[in-house]
Amino acid sequence: MVEHLYGIPEHADTLKLKNTDGSDPYRLYNLDVFQYELHNPMALYGSVPVLISHCTERTMGIFWLNAAETWVDISSNTAGKDSSEDAQTDVRWISESGIIDVFIMLGPKPTDVFTQYASLTGTQSFPPLSALAYHQCRWNYNDQEDVKAVDQGFDEHDIPYDFIWLDIEHTDGKRYFTWDSSKFPQPKDMLQGLMDKRRKLVAIVDPHIKVDSGYKIHNEIRSKNFYVKNKDGGDYEGWCWPGNSGYPDFTNPEMRAWWSSMFAYDQYEGSMENQYIWNDMNEPSVFNGPEVTMHKDALHGVWEHRDVHNLYGLYVQKATADGLIQRSGGVERPFVLTRAFFAGSQRYGAVWTGDNAAEWGHLKISIPMCLSLGLVGISFCGADVGGFFKHPSAELLVRWYQAGAYQPFFRAHAHLDTPRREPWLFGPEITALIREAVRQRYALLPNWYQLFYNAHRTGQPVMRPLWVEYPEDVTTFSIEDEYLLGKDLLVHPVTDEGSMGVTAYLPGKGEVWYDVHTFQKHDGSQSLFIPVTMSSIPVFQRGGSIICRKERIRRSSSCMENDPYTLYVALSLQGFADGELYIDDFHTFNFEKEKQFIHRHLSFSANTLSSRNLAPDSHFSTGSWIEKIVIIGGSRPSSVTLRNADGIESAVEFDFDSVTTVLTLRKPGVNAGADWTVLLR
Ligand code: NOJ
Repeated sequence: MVEHLYGIPEHADTLKLKNTDGSDPYRLYNLDVFQYELHNPMALYGSVPVLISHCTERTMGIFWLNAAETWVDISSNTAGKDSSEDAQTDVRWISESGIIDVFIMLGPKPTDVFTQYASLTGTQSFPPLSALAYHQCRWNYNDQEDVKAVDQGFDEHDIPYDFIWLDIEHTDGKRYFTWDSSKFPQPKDMLQGLMDKRRKLVAIVDPHIKVDSGYKIHNEIRSKNFYVKNKDGGDYEGWCWPGNSGYPDFTNPEMRAWWSSMFAYDQYEGSMENQYIWNDMNEPSVFNGPEVTMHKDALHGVWEHRDVHNLYGLYVQKATADGLIQRSGGVERPFVLTRAFFAGSQRYGAVWTGDNAAEWGHLKISIPMCLSLGLVGISFCGADVGGFFKHPSAELLVRWYQAGAYQPFFRAHAHLDTPRREPWLFGPEITALIREAVRQRYALLPNWYQLFYNAHRTGQPVMRPLWVEYPEDVTTFSIEDEYLLGKDLLVHPVTDEGSMGVTAYLPGKGEVWYDVHTFQKHDGSQSLFIPVTMSSIPVFQRGGSIICRKERIRRSSSCMENDPYTLYVALSLQGFADGELYIDDFHTFNFEKEKQFIHRHLSFSANTLSSRNLAPDSHFSTGSWIEKIVIIGGSRPSSVTLRNADGIESAVEFDFDSVTTVLTLRKPGVNAGADWTVLLR
């Protein structure tokens, strides 16, 4: 009996889909929604027509490949029934037009469904490491001096960040690919200043193009006949940020190739290697169009807009990402954020959940929204930290940073009309709390990187609902206030004002979970009240896992590239643990093209921890070494010995805390890419 359905993002609704009898079906139609409502099946910015069904015996999926306006109606007669033959869930798909291809993914395990779906639409692109770090955005950073001051603010307050973002006001009158000459007269100086600190910038490039005969981009698109047409064959025009605008036809491969070529350094004046791109308003947003989007009878060649609507945003992001790859001669991995998306958008970058608000409900809903995206392939997802509209209280802002630090795309953003909210503007105590949240993110970057490598290779989501790892545990089926990163970290954000604690469900009979802040050990398969203070949110490491961290936090992730690793070995009740460590140059395609990477399997059993090569034909050398190993849940050894690849043995210094059962091995000092063994006796 299939009672549990998931997927079909994007909706600001529960993770587990609701029965839509008596209400509107879930709608899939990419729209620029103003102030979206929570717990509503209304259409938002992106659409992935993939639905996943799950019960204790089996997980399956259906991929309804159609890019027109689509409604998904769910009805079931399963309520109150355990399992009986006549119990049934019906899903009706209603699409307006276009071609319909339907794929059934038979599972039977959640991981099989992810693999099957990835074979159809591809896997998550592997982002440069810095894109997994912290991003500082607002609409707008006003001018070069402002960018410099904010950049310095992070250093003065000792908070790391990797990217500062420029919204639409940085351009010359919303003409994308240009700079406002009085506010940003020397963009290269600004970019160089950031580069000197090993930091980066994102500038917005939207797909609506100002109709202005003095604007090169517009003139070229018009002369090449690349604009979407209206039903009468003229260029389609609509109102957006720049005023009257044309919309390039991104479904046309020639148009996309031209768009990509506009990111070349000699075309996009003032741009440099450390500038990346944000594609917004690509539903597409048309202020004076029906439902703020394009008329359905507009034409993309022979196709009406109605047939391809939900694909427009995907192609904008694809053309942009291709442009960033090409400008580097195919060497560098791109980073592009998009608001609109479709099935397959995971191949081109990151997605965010659009214009949320500084309210507790919006913080709470960011969890199921990102989980739903992860289930349908889009792992690189986040919500505006702090909330886009309105002004967050200091408490909400801190809780949002703490949650965002454990979501894949971690960016603070705010509306033009909101008061400034850089992390140091709320007094020293709040600054310290935000600093700590961001530092926790940076320490865990090796783990994020490994999870994204895995998502890229295998299509498995980074952020997972509990039922994905515990498919037979019915208690997990509707949990959406906590989640897993990979299979080993369980995160329970605090999303209520004035909260003194959360009730966390720790899954798995025979499993143990260690609180990462206190090392306290809890048995699996129980709900537990975990008291909280303002200092952090509950995070647990699964006994049986090894998590890699870097604990010397610096200005940016790039500054930490060659830093040493600390391994956290959390033992299962049987005294086992294993994990992976993945290292490459952190920004190029050489891992794929030249097999330049290190991929290690770390395992602990019979009191022996060892590091073994998982990719014998890969080659890469790192300056990073293992500076500390923390083994949690064991006993005091009488001696600890390191055996290196040549068989040479040396003693390792250690401490054991019998209260927390934490054994700390100091300075094993071995290279992170080498074979080695540590023996506890
Ligand atoms: C709408 C986007 O959702 C928001 O993030 C952005 O700041 C504004 N457009 C202005 O570009």
